[in-house]
Amino acid sequence: MAMLLLCWKAALKAMLVAMALALPWQGAIAGNQWGADYFPDIVLTTQDGDKVRFYDDLVKGKNVAVNVIYTSCRDECPLETARMAEVQRLLGERMGKDIFFLSISIDPEKDTPKVLKAYAGKFGVGPGWLFLTGNKGDIKVLTRKLGLSRSSDAFSKDGHASSLMLGSDTNGQWMRNSAVDNPRFLATTMANFFGWKDVVPTASYAQARPLDLGRAQFTFESRCASCHTIGQGDRIGPDLNQVTVRRSPAWVARYLKEPEKVLAEGDPSAVGLSKRYQQVRMPNLRLGDEDVAALIRYLDEQGKVAVTAQQAAPPQHSHQHKEAGR
Ligand code: HEC
Repeated sequence: MAMLLLCWKAALKAMLVAMALALPWQGAIAGNQWGADYFPDIVLTTQDGDKVRFYDDLVKGKNVAVNVIYTSCRDECPLETARMAEVQRLLGERMGKDIFFLSISIDPEKDTPKVLKAYAGKFGVGPGWLFLTGNKGDIKVLTRKLGLSRSSDAFSKDGHASSLMLGSDTNGQWMRNSAVDNPRFLATTMANFFGWKDVVPTASYAQARPLDLGRAQFTFESRCASCHTIGQGDRIGPDLNQVTVRRSPAWVARYLKEPEKVLAEGDPSAVGLSKRYQQVRMPNLRLGDEDVAALIRYLDEQGKVAVTAQQAAPPQHSHQHKEAGR
């Protein structure tokens, strides 16, 4: 018995020594594991029509945040882009210097550089953020390598994962995040992951409100506020001030649940809106009845608050594209 124990101990010790020896070596390999040999160096075209190579031009030696999009998406992806636009503002000067955002279209045939340019413009995309299109087959391989396509329904578009991959090519580390997370949370995650001392404290970061919200407000802040204000002007979508008065609550409820169907049915209000907000559609956020009811009450109450505030001070005109900052 004692003999057996001894053997076990010896075996364990030998194993531990072997592991300790192997680790530094594995570490060195891991540094290159997700580098030039891993990523296909495919040619992509930016929203400005520039030809770039995925690895050599966009990733090599850089910090990147990569997601996949397609501009005709009626599901979550516009929310992803809207949230990343908020992260972009929080990161301020780090954009295009310490980090680059790459949004790759999985519908490259429709998403020409021109379409991507208009889409990016709608979200107030600034320097350091590229929207990319290219050969469909190449992109399929790339998104799979990036872990940004679900294997089974990879190209059934709506099946795409709303993930944001963070990668640092200098140390070969990659990390998956949800692209629809709270922007402040995402910005802080990036700061930690890339080893920055802090996120550049821009005005919007300093003014960020604390998160002690009721459910409806939380839903509004997390799912709507990237695109809408209540009483502070149009942003990516229309100002929702008084929307329950302008439209009927029943119309708003239905629109929140299935905006794409309301539009497809030729509803005049929906058609009018789609003409005004051409490149981005109100996404179907798969809201449940309870959330919809709570949101309508919330919009109703907030509309009244906004009206009172406007009576106290004349509204400032905000322009839709001009840095959609808060
Ligand atoms: C990615 C941006 C985006 C997000 C996120 C978003 N919307 Fe919209 N929304 C739009 C756009 C754009 C329109 C204009 C209609 C169109 O073109 O599809 C719109 C239209 C609307 C309208 C009709 C406004 C009117 O004037 O009649 C309502 C109501 C609305 N959204 C509510 C919401 C609510 C509530 C949420 C959150 C649960 C939300 N939206 C999330 C972009 C967005």
